[in-house]
Amino acid sequence: MEILHERSTIAQTVAAAEEFIGLFHRENPDAGDPRARLAAVRAELAETGTYRHTPEELAHGARVAWRNSNRCIGRLYWNSLRVRDRRELTGADEIAAECVGHLREATNGGRIRPTITVFAPDTPERPGPLIWSEQLIRYAGYGDHPSVTVGDPRNRELTEALRALGWPGGPGTPFDLLPLVVQGCDDKPRWFDLPADAVLEVPIEHPEDDHWTDWGLRWHAVPAISNMCLEIGGIHYPAAPFNGWYMGTEIGARNLGDTDRYNLLPVVGRRLGLDVTNDRTLWKDRALVELNRAVLHSFDRAGVTIADHHTESRRFLTHIDREERKGREVGADWSWIVPPISGSACPVFHRTYEDRPLTPAFAHHEGARQRAEGRDLV
Ligand code: ARG
Repeated sequence: MEILHERSTIAQTVAAAEEFIGLFHRENPDAGDPRARLAAVRAELAETGTYRHTPEELAHGARVAWRNSNRCIGRLYWNSLRVRDRRELTGADEIAAECVGHLREATNGGRIRPTITVFAPDTPERPGPLIWSEQLIRYAGYGDHPSVTVGDPRNRELTEALRALGWPGGPGTPFDLLPLVVQGCDDKPRWFDLPADAVLEVPIEHPEDDHWTDWGLRWHAVPAISNMCLEIGGIHYPAAPFNGWYMGTEIGARNLGDTDRYNLLPVVGRRLGLDVTNDRTLWKDRALVELNRAVLHSFDRAGVTIADHHTESRRFLTHIDREERKGREVGADWSWIVPPISGSACPVFHRTYEDRPLTPAFAHHEGARQRAEGRDLV
């Protein structure tokens, strides 16, 4: 994971602000006089070392940050991102409550709506709030080694951090919901249980084999990334959770299939009656396909939005066309865009991309990670 450095000089902030205000007015020609706005931003920066985005700048900046996410295949709908402006919030309680509100609005009974909630930015006086949790919804991982973990090995550290904060632990199922960990401005991190009715989950079943329900597999409906910093025009919003809808392979190939996640390919392969001791039976490949069929089938049955990788690949190429007609080149990271199964059967495989970083952007911050690991608390 690349780490961007978050400390900027005032000169860098001014340059970034000017660039963004220019972009905003080029893309929103009806938004008034760019020169007047630029002068106001420069004056505010000179006086306070920061500036406040208008609600329109914030919304457009957040949408363009999605448009600039080179690892995301789902960018066709970037301009319809719903933006919840909660910049006045700095305290952990109110932030946790608004994260719950975000989940309810984004879940929308299964018709998932891409949504971002933006909390207070960093200012020269104080860093903004921080959400330690990688996503708003995460399953606990108990145990000190991936191969003996109950639950999701990816979340072992977060689970341990929660225990250290006094969380008593969940019932110990493979799918215990973790509380949200939020650090308000000038505060220690605190944990907040998510109300059960704010988290929509889908039981995973196979379209033909009833036995799969015995395994008790499930996954949550909304992927809401909560540990990336939204950077717009030199302003950093360290707490700005955002979600789209799932593409099936994220769950069926990676979350349930990876050996350092739920590692279900051997279980599925044996259930399919395959010789799992011999690579050349392609048992892993066949198990992957059945797992992915089960995920898509289950979400469809539950009435929860999910994309398949063929459709999402086509949409991405439509996105590239549309952007190019607007005079914008779409950056992309091939190794993230090409789906983890059946790559060459998807049109996105058969070409290359430029992977240039642009801002506004979502970034991982080293400082935020240190705070989330508690290194600045001792
Ligand atoms: N891959 C991550 C997961 O499986 C989610 C990343 C964002 N995905 C999305 N469809 N917006 O939870």
